[in-house]
Amino acid sequence: MDPMYKRILFAALILPLVSAAPNELIKPKAPATRPATQPAQVPPPLTHYMGREIAQTMHWQGAGWLTREEREKEEDCTTMVKQLKVQPGQTVCDLGAGNGFYTLWLAKLVGEKGRVLAVDIQPEMLEVLTNKMAALQIHNVRPILGTITDPRLPPRSVDLILMVDVYHEFDHPFEMVQAMSRALKPRGRIVFVEFRREDPKVPIKDVHKMTEAQVRKEMAAQPVEWSETIEVLPRQHIIVFKKKADKSE
Ligand SMILES: C[S@@+](CC[C@H](N)C(=O)[O-])C[C@H]1O[C@@H](n2cnc3c(N)ncnc32)[C@H](O)[C@@H]1O
Repeated sequence: MDPMYKRILFAALILPLVSAAPNELIKPKAPATRPATQPAQVPPPLTHYMGREIAQTMHWQGAGWLTREEREKEEDCTTMVKQLKVQPGQTVCDLGAGNGFYTLWLAKLVGEKGRVLAVDIQPEMLEVLTNKMAALQIHNVRPILGTITDPRLPPRSVDLILMVDVYHEFDHPFEMVQAMSRALKPRGRIVFVEFRREDPKVPIKDVHKMTEAQVRKEMAAQPVEWSETIEVLPRQHIIVFKKKADKSE
């Protein structure tokens, strides 16, 4: 074999497997294009925020868990949705919509004159949702591929932003809530539905739970004010904030 060809073959096949290989030889090439979910100027993802650990994003391949049969019994989803007091004609955002379990529900509540903005950072989740919308002939939902810092919502357009089991996954929680606040109409609401960290009987890993105090502490740095905490669900808090009035409103 030509010695030059032999050297190339060795570098390509063997060096990447050897942990002691010099870094410059095994360094992966930079991607030609940046994924849509990663804007050009992204601060590094956080692993901790204001004293809590941030959870890993739930992978789209595990999305079956979101539509499991026992969900209604375990989480009392019907009661949760009633507490939102959604009105026909409203614009509601299902932020971190996943495969659309709540999106489709909200679409019925806002009716033909309202709309649901369904945001997620995983295109595969939005694809499942889009297929369901087509099968059910639902036309008042707009899927939006957000980024990890920006849900890409139109400014001052949304009455209610709902996050069910989502906020604790944000690796840029500050930037996300800043952007969400800009998207709210005056006195619009942001609702957090989070598993109760205070309750050891809730059978969910601690990193996927939040205390009410922690959510309120984090929101104290944001242009929203606490409105109410509703404790009617078996496992989750419903924590409601309103956008603070700004001088132009
Ligand atoms: C546990 S799932 C909950 C899905 C849905 N809310 C439900 O209750 O059925 C969390 C979802 O949040 C999404 N997510 C995580 N970080 C996000 C971000 N910064 N912006 C939008 N979605 C995000 C994930 O991709 C995932 O689909």
